[in-house]
This record gives sequence, structure tokens and C-alpha cells, in this order.
Amino acid sequence: MVVDDCCFFNKDSLVTKPSKKYPLVLWMAILGLIMISGVYIFSLCLKLRVFVVTPNQWKGKATKQTCHDLRIPQSELRYMHYPEPTTYSRKECTCTPVRFFAILSMQRSGSGWFETLLNSHVNVSSNGEIFSVKERRVNISSITETLDKVYNLDWYSSASKNECTAAVGLKWMLNQGLMQHHKEIIKYFNKRGVSAILLFRRNLLRRLVSVLANSHDRNAKQLNGTHKAHVHSKNEADVLARYKPTINTTLLIPELKLTDKWGADALEHFKSTRHIRLYYEDLVHNSTKLMDVLDFLRLPQQMLSSRHVKIHSKSLSDQIENWDAVYTALKGTEYESFLNADYQI
Ligand SMILES: *[C@@H]1O[C@H](CO)[C@@H](O)[C@H](O)[C@H]1NC(C)=O
Ligand SMILES: *[C@@H]1O[C@H](CO)[C@@H](O)[C@H](O)[C@H]1NC(C)=O
Ligand SMILES: *[C@@H]1O[C@H](CO)[C@@H](O)[C@H](O)[C@H]1NC(C)=O
Ligand SMILES: *[C@@H]1O[C@H](CO)[C@@H](O)[C@H](O)[C@H]1NC(C)=O
Ligand SMILES: *[C@@H]1O[C@H](CO)[C@@H](O)[C@H](O)[C@H]1NC(C)=O
Repeated sequence: MVVDDCCFFNKDSLVTKPSKKYPLVLWMAILGLIMISGVYIFSLCLKLRVFVVTPNQWKGKATKQTCHDLRIPQSELRYMHYPEPTTYSRKECTCTPVRFFAILSMQRSGSGWFETLLNSHVNVSSNGEIFSVKERRVNISSITETLDKVYNLDWYSSASKNECTAAVGLKWMLNQGLMQHHKEIIKYFNKRGVSAILLFRRNLLRRLVSVLANSHDRNAKQLNGTHKAHVHSKNEADVLARYKPTINTTLLIPELKLTDKWGADALEHFKSTRHIRLYYEDLVHNSTKLMDVLDFLRLPQQMLSSRHVKIHSKSLSDQIENWDAVYTALKGTEYESFLNADYQI
């Protein structure tokens, strides 16, 4: 229509007043204006359509929003998560916040016992030493992929709990890619609000005895031909404790130093995350320490239990074959205190 008008006018004007070109320019300007406003209206329509989509997205977020208790401070919200597992629905516990944690430790430091204690809590799901499998820790992307699955409550293990899990995590040894990739892992922990539970052993000589005895049993398989790292009966514990390792005294101090340094380095690295530091000896002696852990994970306090039976319960002198040599090697060093049998753990 506009085009017809234009051309009719053009023709007309051409006939009547051929010399005057201004009206043509004017009409061209109006045409341009109409086109511009057309484009404007079209873009408004687009905006409107975007606006129609947005409330649906808001609705999804709103459900999560309603999970938040407004009295909870922002600093705490970072550590409260509402995972949506792909394999099941959290049902009535959709709004039960989940805390993410990782038990960072070394072999033979009581972490197996500690994890069973945690898992005896109705709301805790600690999935074991997931990164003992090499493929899961070959590079940082496979590490984060594995962690994502655990923290989305999509990891299946014997420790997996129901939809009312309020704390989910794993046990992670320092030599399972943790120290190697510590920078990226710490970044991940801080980004996703993962709390670190650092668990170490004070008496590194006792730890060494446990390491050597465990590695001996891996080949000797003293319990009816099977290797057991942890036992559930006094009888089994006695069988395993019968073996007394001989410690190479030349390697002893460098070995203790190395272990000491690993622990110190781990503490130094992970101090920028939300963390708690625990010692096996303290947990054994002081049951309040366990409740500190539950508080740290914001879990309701309850009795925790483990079926693990301690293997090396005798004094150190009865558990090391070349005790005299070990005693001489450590006497007068910074590790002298490890020799003292003042606590039987
Ligand atoms: C713990 O689990 C129980 C049983 O599944 C559930 O009723 C309760 O709400 C959970 N508590 C927390 C704090 O998540
Ligand atoms: C990480 O390792 C996985 C599994 O071996 C591999 O498929 C992937 O390509 C690796 N990614 C990078 C970035 O190297
Ligand atoms: C080994 O097996 C025998 C017979 O099955 C059983 O009586 C014994 O308790 C087992 N010993 C250990 C240490 O498990
Ligand atoms: C202790 O270890 C060192 C270094 O590996 C070795 O040279 C030495 O023979 C070992 N000593 C004993 C008694 O096995
Ligand atoms: C036990 O642990 C609690 C909490 O960490 C601490 O306050 C208390 O002093 C400890 N008790 C002993 C006897 O060490």
C-alpha cells in the first residue's frame, strides 16, 4: 500500500511538478521511518517472547529458593547444597541441605575406622577410597568429573544412603592425586563449598608399623588366605598382630621426615578451604572430638559406632622385631616421643 501510494504520487508529481524533488525526499524519509519503527516493533516482540520464557526458569529456581531458610547467613549458604540426583528423587528431603566433605588422610592413620564411624550416622554417606582407582585420578578433569558425581548424590556404593543424606563425601589419600593436583582441587573445594576433614596420626612410628604389617599381609594373607586391611574380631586382630616387622633403621628417619612433611604440606595447602584438623589418637581418647566433626558438618549429634577392631594394641616394643635398634636410632632425635609407650594406641 505504501509502495503504491509512493509510486502513484511519484508518477503524479512527476507529471504535475517535475522540477520539484523535495516531496520525494520527504516521502523517502517517511518510508525509512516506517521501516525503522517496523524493526523496532519486531524487536519488541522478540523481547516479549524472551520475557514469556523467563518466568518458567524462575519457577525452577523459586523451588530451590523456598528451600532456603532466610535466617541462615550468606556465609553458611555456600556450604548448603540441594543436589538433584539423576538416578532418583530426593522426595521429602528435596529441601534437606546436603554438606559436601572429603576426608583427607594417609594410609594407616585410622581413616578406615573413622569413616565407618561417620557412616553409622543415619544422614552421612561417605563413599570410601574412590580415588584408589587410577583412571579416576589420571588428570584433573577425571577428578572433577568423579567429584561431581559423588556430590550430586549419583555415586553408588555400599555407603550410599537414602534421599535424606545430609552429608556426602569420600575418603581421599594424599598420594591419590590429591597433593599432585592440590591447586585445582582446592579451587574446586572453594567453588563448590566442599569441607575438608584432615585426619592424621601423631605417632608416625606406630603408623609405620601398621604400614609394614599391612604390606606383609598383602602377600602373606594370614587370615585363611585372604588379605585384610581392617578386621572385625579380636581373633583376627591377634593373628595379624603376631607379625613383627623389622624396620630398616637407615631409612627410618628419612621416612618419618617425609611423612611429617606430607602432613604439614597438606595442612598448609588446605587451610584456605573450610576445614577441620583431627588426630587419630585424639579421636580414640576423646569422644567429644567425634561430636566436633558432626558439628562441623552441621549434623544432628548421635552415637556413632564401628565394628573395626584395632590390630596393633600392644606396646611398640612388643611389635617391632628389632626394637633395640629402632630405639637407639630415634633416641635423642625429634622423634623420640614416638618411642614412649605412654598411650597404647
Ligand atoms: C536424617 O535422616 C532421617 C531418616 O532418613 C530423616 O528423617 C531426617 O530428616 C534426616 N535429618 C537431617 C538433618 O537431614
Ligand atoms: C583425562 O583422562 C581421561 C581418561 O583417561 C581422558 O579421556 C581425557 O581425554 C583426559 N583429559 C585431558 C584433558 O587430558
Ligand atoms: C579360618 O577358617 C576356619 C574354618 O573355616 C575358621 O574356624 C577360623 O576361624 C578361620 N580363621 C580366621 C583367622 O579367620
Ligand atoms: C636399609 O636400606 C638401605 C637403603 O635402601 C640398604 O642399603 C640397606 O641394606 C638396608 N638395610 C637392611 C638391614 O636391610
Ligand atoms: C576433648 O575434646 C574437646 C573438644 O575438642 C576438648 O574441648 C577437650 O578439652 C578434650 N578433652 C581432653 C581430656 O583432652
